[in-house]
Amino acid sequence: MIVSSFVGYRGVNIKRGGGKCKGGPGSNFPEMLVDCPSFSKPQRHMYDDTTAIDVVDLLKVFEKKNRAAVRAVDYISFRVRRGEIFGLLGPNGAGKSTTIKILTTLLPPTSGSASILGYDVVSHPLEVRKSICVVVQENAVELYLSVRNNLRTFGRFHGLTWSEIERRADGVSELFGLREHQHEKGVDLSGGLKRRVQVAKIFMIDTPIVFLDEATTGMDTFNKRATLQAIREESRKGRTIVLTTHMLDEAEELCDALAIVNHGRVIAAGSTDNVKSMGLRLLNVSLTFERLTNDILRFIHAYHPYKIETSDHSIEVKVREEEAALGILAGARQTGLLRHFEITNASLEDVFVELIDKKESVTS
Ligand SMILES: Nc1ncnc2c1ncn2[C@@H]1O[C@H](COP(=O)(O)OP(=O)(O)OP(=O)(O)O)[C@@H](O)[C@H]1O
Ligand SMILES: [Mg+2]
Repeated sequence: MIVSSFVGYRGVNIKRGGGKCKGGPGSNFPEMLVDCPSFSKPQRHMYDDTTAIDVVDLLKVFEKKNRAAVRAVDYISFRVRRGEIFGLLGPNGAGKSTTIKILTTLLPPTSGSASILGYDVVSHPLEVRKSICVVVQENAVELYLSVRNNLRTFGRFHGLTWSEIERRADGVSELFGLREHQHEKGVDLSGGLKRRVQVAKIFMIDTPIVFLDEATTGMDTFNKRATLQAIREESRKGRTIVLTTHMLDEAEELCDALAIVNHGRVIAAGSTDNVKSMGLRLLNVSLTFERLTNDILRFIHAYHPYKIETSDHSIEVKVREEEAALGILAGARQTGLLRHFEITNASLEDVFVELIDKKESVTS
């Protein structure tokens, strides 16, 4: 197994506006699916429909002396297809890293099963390790080696020849923008750059399955762009990629399929489009006025919006019904003060927050 890692976490990244709600192959997808297959986005590439990862009723309970047991993973089930980018999403403490650790044989499950390319993670750990590489959440850059030597050491450790190491190190440095930092030591790198090296390392070798636990955490926009692009490139080669993230815009952009987890349970799963359109069908109405008046706010509130946010001369309203969205737009036009409007479907962010809220209110 190939391990690299990251530290820390930054909060949810908000992206406004989703695409259009889609019908099509997944439109009859059951709501709040707990154990489900995923569906492909039509524009995606090298899918085959065979299963890469199969997780069934996985349970992990941490027992601690003199402390209540923690049920970190609570009967999770999901399936990842070969060639897919699969996102495990959830708030802090949801059980994402614990799930990844079980799948990568770093932790034994309490019960349930998980298999990678048909190999059970408990009974066939060596076969599993040969098929995977993982960037774990904790730090794993060799601090006293240069960036180039970090890449070389990793390649050498995994049996690449010297010429292959140099060839790949050149490619990876180019892809991740590390060329100018080649001679800097790990200890001297910024946090974001350290992470970039950690991710870059695993692209030195080709394993069919890649796990990335919070891969882009702490990266600036440039870093993040390069990393996402590299992940996409690797996926195009047919590699299966499982990533965890709090960055919902990242998941929305990158993932073919998702499982949203909370308190150790999968609360929604399926193709990214289906997850977006399940649970709730929110519409965002964005309105910009010449100036905002109490009358405008009053008539919008009459539509009982799910959420309303105002800033300067703009209002963003989330409503559940198309009629409400159109009614608000008509009313806004009648004021004669409307300068700009936009109606979009909910983003993954909205769905995520809504599903987690819903689940909390059911369980509390
Ligand atoms: N070794 C451990 N011993 C006891 N409890 C643990 C251990 N590892 C994780 N936990 C607990 O299990 C739960 C899930 O943790 P996990 O790290 O899997 O969450 P996560 O979804 O990865 O969170 P984050 O987004 O913060 O990385 C948390 O309540 C955590 O405190
Ligand atoms: Mg984690």
